[in-house]
Amino acid sequence: MYIDINKIDFEYDKNNLVLCSCSTGIEQGEIVAILGKSGSGKSTLLRVLSGLEIPKNGEITIDGEILVSNRHFVEPNKRKIGMVFQDYALFPHLNIIQNIQYGLMKKSKEEKEKIALEMLKLISLNEKYTKYPHELSGGQQQRVALARALAPNPKMLLLDEPFSNLDKDLRKQIRQDLKRIMNQQNMSCIFATHDYEDAKDIANRILYLEDGKIVKIEKNV
Ligand SMILES: Nc1ncnc2c1ncn2[C@@H]1O[C@H](COP(=O)(O)OP(=O)(O)OP(=O)(O)O)[C@@H](O)[C@H]1O
Ligand SMILES: [Mg+2]
Repeated sequence: MYIDINKIDFEYDKNNLVLCSCSTGIEQGEIVAILGKSGSGKSTLLRVLSGLEIPKNGEITIDGEILVSNRHFVEPNKRKIGMVFQDYALFPHLNIIQNIQYGLMKKSKEEKEKIALEMLKLISLNEKYTKYPHELSGGQQQRVALARALAPNPKMLLLDEPFSNLDKDLRKQIRQDLKRIMNQQNMSCIFATHDYEDAKDIANRILYLEDGKIVKIEKNV
């Protein structure tokens, strides 16, 4: 498996496991949904994967490299994992192109421009690149957040409730956009949702999370 999540235990407070022996593997290019009720631990699992939280037990590897185990811990910014938070978290004082280029500090000016143009094309927002987040619709902001997460070419993308603030039609469209973009980039993606339709529409597999445990894995055919 490209990504291996092995028996992850996590607790915020002592003796209160929020994730309990969570295990799964994810193939390269696979889209996996984590489906569960509010409080089941979806965001926590994404935060552990991205390195924002440290598990009590267990191990995570990506492409053979240990990200976390009882002896290793790779810092979030070194993990090559893109994350899109539920509220998009775009920088309000930066325009679209600057938001997209945010994670590309170390690249040359030419490279930054090339990547930003590619990303704009991918999210079909070419003509709006000097606009600021507040001048965009929710769905457009969502796509910019996606572009910003994808620009550094991460090994995996994590999305926390990526469709929750969108109306029904936009939701459908963004889901299909996301699927197309993921397939184009052959990128692995895990997204959290409480909506079965979101999961069913684009995920290759659905992990059902209940009280921090994966209780069922469904292959989506
Ligand atoms: N910072 C924190 N400190 C203590 N407990 C927390 C913290 N964050 C979350 N929890 C608890 O951990 C459990 C899992 O929360 P989490 O946010 O992962 O759930 P979720 O599945 O993402 O829910 P939602 O669908 O509402 O976003 C909940 O019981 C929550 O109260
Ligand atoms: Mg959550």
